[in-house]
Amino acid sequence: MASPLPPSCTATIFCPNTSLMTSNTSVTPFFTKKFKSQKPSLVIRPKQGIVCKATNNNDQNKDAVGKLDRRNMLIGLGAGGLYGTAGLETNPFAFAAPVPPPDLATCGPADKPDGTTIDCCPPKTTTIIDFKLPDPGPMRTRLAAQNVAKDPVYLAKYKKAIELMRALPDDDPRSLAQQAMVHCSYCDGGYPMAGFSDLEIQVHFCWLFYPWHRLYLYFYEKIMCKLIDDPTFALPFWNWDAPAGMYIPSIFTDTTSSLYDQYRNAAHQPPKLLDLNYGGTDDDTDDKTRIRENLTTMYQQMISKATSHRLFFGEPYSAGDEPNPGAGNIESIPHNNIHLWTGDPTQTNGEDMGAFYSAGRDPIFYSHHANVDRMWSIYKARGGTDITKKDWLDTEFLFYDENKNLVRVKVRDSLDESKLGYKYQDVEIPWLNSKPTARKSKNKRKAAVSSADLTSKFPATLSETISVEVARPSAAKRTTAEKTKEEEVLVISGIEFAGSEMLKFDVYVNDDADEVSGKDKAEFAGSFVHVPHRANKKIKTNLRLGITNLLTDLGAEEDNSVVVTLVPKFGKGAIIGGFKIELISTT
Ligand code: C2O
Repeated sequence: MASPLPPSCTATIFCPNTSLMTSNTSVTPFFTKKFKSQKPSLVIRPKQGIVCKATNNNDQNKDAVGKLDRRNMLIGLGAGGLYGTAGLETNPFAFAAPVPPPDLATCGPADKPDGTTIDCCPPKTTTIIDFKLPDPGPMRTRLAAQNVAKDPVYLAKYKKAIELMRALPDDDPRSLAQQAMVHCSYCDGGYPMAGFSDLEIQVHFCWLFYPWHRLYLYFYEKIMCKLIDDPTFALPFWNWDAPAGMYIPSIFTDTTSSLYDQYRNAAHQPPKLLDLNYGGTDDDTDDKTRIRENLTTMYQQMISKATSHRLFFGEPYSAGDEPNPGAGNIESIPHNNIHLWTGDPTQTNGEDMGAFYSAGRDPIFYSHHANVDRMWSIYKARGGTDITKKDWLDTEFLFYDENKNLVRVKVRDSLDESKLGYKYQDVEIPWLNSKPTARKSKNKRKAAVSSADLTSKFPATLSETISVEVARPSAAKRTTAEKTKEEEVLVISGIEFAGSEMLKFDVYVNDDADEVSGKDKAEFAGSFVHVPHRANKKIKTNLRLGITNLLTDLGAEEDNSVVVTLVPKFGKGAIIGGFKIELISTT
């Protein structure tokens, strides 16, 4: 499937090839009338088995062995002196090292979702400068996009900066075209990982997501400042977490402006309200409900589930690791959804915003990411802490700066935005009070697969709604101190699908038998969302959802197990490797 949003998508999603299905298990679909009216195929489809055993290639040990092999190989090759050897026999995995910076000389074509490739490589140079934090100059304040709409002086500067970036020759690293390619190379397999030629560098679906994008925006903004000769200029942020910003900001919709991009979803122009849980199809939810759902989603991602470093930032990703170990909360939702919601579904790959290789061509991309970045700032302002592991702090990236110098910069340089010379305008944060409410249905869904049968029924293809029982580590009520130390996490592991495809499924815990919860209910545990990027490449990743608060809200803290329901929303049916609930350290 070339397009992430083909016109025939509902057929693709909801009429999966049943030849793989071998199980006789079936469940009654519990879609509401609302769902039925959009997706009639759900109603008429005969109830086939929903769980089908797929090839078991989800062996965690195998992965670990593969990684060890590659690390040994690296040690053997002595590549870059990344690894020492002392103590190897006691704990080989202690020898992880940060993902090395890309080597521009090895940059190759990046993959587009449609199977073609594109050359996104930056101009080559051999001179690399180490990044130094800038001298304290004037603080740049990033304002909310809806608040600059009526500021002609600011807007004139912003438009001018983009005009100048668009006018630069395509091979100038400061041009908008090259800036978009920076994202393309780092996100679509342009760079092999030094020392591990079979691996790519990937800055999504892992803990590099926040710092890499912060630094990318930093250089982009500095280039704008330089081009318009105004060190105080700052990007506007797309304030999608507040009702006033849940639209495409009007500054981007004037077709005569340099901020305009023609490849956006025509059906999502203002006043169409943004759906932070968008999964490829619009529904008829009214605006009031949508706003409430959007705000609850923000509360869930930023508060209820932002209870550990792994959940907030994403999974660790070091030298020699397979890409895509797992995205953090905000990367997954609503960051991915907003990409998909904004891109033009009539374009082959959902360009521009709907595919990573092209997203940076749309000026709105940088305002979208300014708000993602703002979430990191809000998280820290509310007491959240950064990861302290060296593999994260010492990961290095290369960017061209405003003087066309190639700069090597470390994650540790990105932690404090004020040291980078910018801050965010203080605007109201309405989701701080948008705690979900629990339905606590009396008529709970029954699991079609018991926890004892999970390992024999999975891996399996998710082609229909399925409910499974997942055992908890303990049914003993945990103290507040225990909860502060360890988060209880639902892990949906070995999620496997084609990288070129869009994918979304929703996850509910202890939900009602007949009707799926709204997104403002505590039973809604989260979603898995994938933005198409690489063709001919299988992605295998995990979804981790923090459920400590959810269990409290649902009064399920002393239960032995929970019933987890997966509802496929878009895509051809991913393979689901398995389920477990575990306790993970919050740091
Ligand atoms: Cu690098 Cu919004 O993606």
